[in-house]
Amino acid sequence: MDLSTTIAGVRFPSCFMNASGALCVTREELLALGRSRAGAIVTKSMTVEPRDGNPTPRYYAFPGGSINSMGLPNLGYRAYAALIPELKSFGKPVIASVAGLCEDDFPTIAAIINAAKPDLIEVNLSCPNIPGKPQIGYDAEASERLLKRVRKVITVPMGVKLPPYFDPAHHTAMGEVIGRCGVDFLNLINSVGNGLVVDPERETVVIKPKGGFGGLGGTIIKPVALANVRAFWKIFEGQISIIGTGGVVHGVDAFEHLLCGASAVQIGTVLVEEGVSVFGRLETELAAQLSKKGYAKLEDCRGKLKEL
Ligand code: SIN
Repeated sequence: MDLSTTIAGVRFPSCFMNASGALCVTREELLALGRSRAGAIVTKSMTVEPRDGNPTPRYYAFPGGSINSMGLPNLGYRAYAALIPELKSFGKPVIASVAGLCEDDFPTIAAIINAAKPDLIEVNLSCPNIPGKPQIGYDAEASERLLKRVRKVITVPMGVKLPPYFDPAHHTAMGEVIGRCGVDFLNLINSVGNGLVVDPERETVVIKPKGGFGGLGGTIIKPVALANVRAFWKIFEGQISIIGTGGVVHGVDAFEHLLCGASAVQIGTVLVEEGVSVFGRLETELAAQLSKKGYAKLEDCRGKLKEL
């Protein structure tokens, strides 16, 4: 079955791709994504200078999910700008993910990375793991200021990766900001920030940074991800493409994201746990699910979630 999709006018050969952060820091990891069945190559969120990230252990998987506090380890934006032509040779879209340690970093990085011509740029307003740096996506004014600045220098489709919101008032407020900033697509959601996993045997936290607090991913966050996809799908009446991220472990999880309004899905925890062969498994499972439900193609079920 054809699982291709379109995000902000750009065609993707498959609706499955890596979430920024999962196996996408180094050249070797990015090339492996290029050779895999992933529908796109998404870079690690880049900062101005290369970063080693937070002290280890900084990732821990448990039944039902994972917790991480990577701290944006990345090669720095100049290295990713230089890699983009090679990544584009795989014939699938390249999404450059832009972060920053302060507001001014974002337009600096966006201008140079835009000149390297990735197919799309994702502006990450939602990393929960930099000690002392709150998630920008929880500050509507700062988000608007920043998005308007980067929009001026980005000429390819521009998306924003948001943190999870837990109240309709926050969906509405951020929806209004997005509507004023020329955003072409949304990536929903980043990890659920500042969770805490405890090992009762050792009586310890499981990751070192921030006293054990970190971003939650995997199956346990799926209902939160689905709620955010659905809320923004409704706010924009399906007019802004959405990438659903959170809790996709099997094809049926992707199907649920599509029903809520996503056009594509990203995977994090399951990619780290299974490696790039996971893309083939997910394609097979989603195709089987769509056939079972009588859908001939992916678009036919997008946004079709029924209410009771
Ligand atoms: C990290 O590098 O800490 C995760 C990145 C993110 O959540 O945006």
